[in-house]
Amino acid sequence: MRFVVTAGPTREAIDPVRFVSNRSSGKMGYAIAEAASAAGHSVTLISGPATVAPPDGAEFVSIITSDELHDAVHRAAPECDVLVMCAAVSDYKPATVALQKMKKRKTPFALELVPTRDILASLPKVNREFLVVGFAAETHDLELNAQKKLREKNCDMIVANDVSKTDSGLESDENEVTIFFRSGESKTISRTSKKIIARELVKIISKMSEKCLTKKSG
Ligand code: CTP
Repeated sequence: MRFVVTAGPTREAIDPVRFVSNRSSGKMGYAIAEAASAAGHSVTLISGPATVAPPDGAEFVSIITSDELHDAVHRAAPECDVLVMCAAVSDYKPATVALQKMKKRKTPFALELVPTRDILASLPKVNREFLVVGFAAETHDLELNAQKKLREKNCDMIVANDVSKTDSGLESDENEVTIFFRSGESKTISRTSKKIIARELVKIISKMSEKCLTKKSG
């Protein structure tokens, strides 16, 4: 099977030395890419600036901004069987990028931010030839918010994690996730290493993708 996995944060430039970003380390997405590759799948890893080294065996595509990620996903997705959108995409970018370093001021100022494009929501909704796995980073109302993203972003399944905890999720080597499926079913993987969660996710995704492929060819 051909996997496309996105990982890490995006960076949205303010000026040549500053940017808007988030705390994503890339560890969860890299672990999924590694687990998929170890399970014998072909893997393209599209990644923003992460804190970990890319796994062996995956084709690596480096991106910085949400617009670059958007274009890379649209280029790679038509050729894949499974798209795993693990990247923590910036929801906003500065309205303008200063070409020179902005000088320090003594008075407060406001930075105007405009929404970025939602990559998952921009994918084809009907006759899609690949499975879409979304992620949901939540600090509250995890199930409600994840179910809403599953439907509104038209994912086949969504992996929700609580990012309010300091000992799991963002930047950590561990995580605890609940996977919500369109059938209404859900499955929780209790707190363990991201590598173990990744292996479990790859198994679940492969099983689901095989079913879809069988349906398509049948
Ligand atoms: N995502 C995306 N494009 C964006 C923002 C997010 O494709 N511009 C994807 C992420 O890769 C993830 C899913 O949407 O698979 C949910 O991301 P998350 O950050 O949890 O939610 P948001 O859609 O950003 O909503 P909110 O910040 O309100 O929770």
